[in-house]
Amino acid sequence: MINVLFAAKPGSWDAYRETLAAAFAAKGLTVDLRQDFPPEEVDYIVYAPNSSVQDFRPYIRAKAVLNLWAGVENVVHNDTLAIPLCRMVEDGLTEGMVEWVTGHVLRHHLGIDACLAQQDGQWRPVYPPLARERRVTMLGLGELGSACARMLAALKFDLSGWSRTERSIDGVKTFSGDAGLRAALTGAEIVVLLLPLTPATENLMTAERLSWLARGAVLINPGRGALIDDAALLAALETGRLSHATLDVFRTEPLPPDHPFWGHPKVTVTPHVASETRPVTASMTIAENVRRGEAGEPFLHVVNRTQAY
Ligand SMILES: NC(=O)c1ccc[n+]([C@@H]2O[C@H](COP(=O)([O-])OP(=O)(O)OC[C@H]3O[C@@H](n4cnc5c(N)ncnc54)[C@H](OP(=O)(O)O)[C@@H]3O)[C@@H](O)[C@H]2O)c1
Repeated sequence: MINVLFAAKPGSWDAYRETLAAAFAAKGLTVDLRQDFPPEEVDYIVYAPNSSVQDFRPYIRAKAVLNLWAGVENVVHNDTLAIPLCRMVEDGLTEGMVEWVTGHVLRHHLGIDACLAQQDGQWRPVYPPLARERRVTMLGLGELGSACARMLAALKFDLSGWSRTERSIDGVKTFSGDAGLRAALTGAEIVVLLLPLTPATENLMTAERLSWLARGAVLINPGRGALIDDAALLAALETGRLSHATLDVFRTEPLPPDHPFWGHPKVTVTPHVASETRPVTASMTIAENVRRGEAGEPFLHVVNRTQAY
């Protein structure tokens, strides 16, 4: 019997208990899945960083922490965690992000806002440029960024991408490291942030870096709020350096009701819904990692604690 602790907010238990049970059964694993165990009896911890489990030391026989979220910034620095931490990579999460990013890029590329605002009886044909004439930059080419980049490349956007290490994706001009950032951003008309929040990426989008973009550029952030210097963003919107920001993630969530982003005419706020871990497909990832742990095989999607993602 394998003991799996489900350590997430109680509300998500109903969404996961049956899908996890089915996924474990499909892998031929005999699992006791519960929200409560004596810590010393737990073999794996299915985890959300906002759960009440914050001290991992009592879980003396646990083999891995299997995070339900892609982002790990709220657990990766936990010094009590001495076993592998696996982040969430699953098809539903990726597909949702590809749809959200593509939709928001196309909104700005096609000028859909202007279209909606001009339905006033006057015939004013304005043709948008082709995607091949629109410079889009994807910061982050990991699981989510690369999937979004492939979709945007398939639409033929003039696409650049940036990552820490060098990556190669068909149809994407790739840049890497600190030295590649300026080239990736210079002249970009739409920039999408799909970076993890780490000490190296916090406040990445400074006033200076925003000044490298094309005048009137659009920033789309489904990554993490603290990737952006908020004051620099507001100033860039004020001067017209940026024409719009579509923000899904914020330094403080929920975004406080009196925050200037809410009422800003050049900011679109969405409440951290760009994508979500989907229980059926996420359960398959978790079951596969438990199977691997039991078979002595390497876990999938292990977080590099030094890089913090
Ligand atoms: N809004 C939402 O609903 C939502 C949902 C899910 C995830 N997210 C966010 O999306 C983020 C990305 O997820 P993912 O699964 O794509 O992560 P990932 O697979 O770990 O990819 C991260 C990417 O960022 C790059 N990167 C990391 N640090 C960097 C640095 N210092 N300089 C340049 N590039 C750097 C990585 O470079 P390498 O390729 O060289 O490693 C990689 O390409 C998550 O961390 C989370 O914050 C948001």
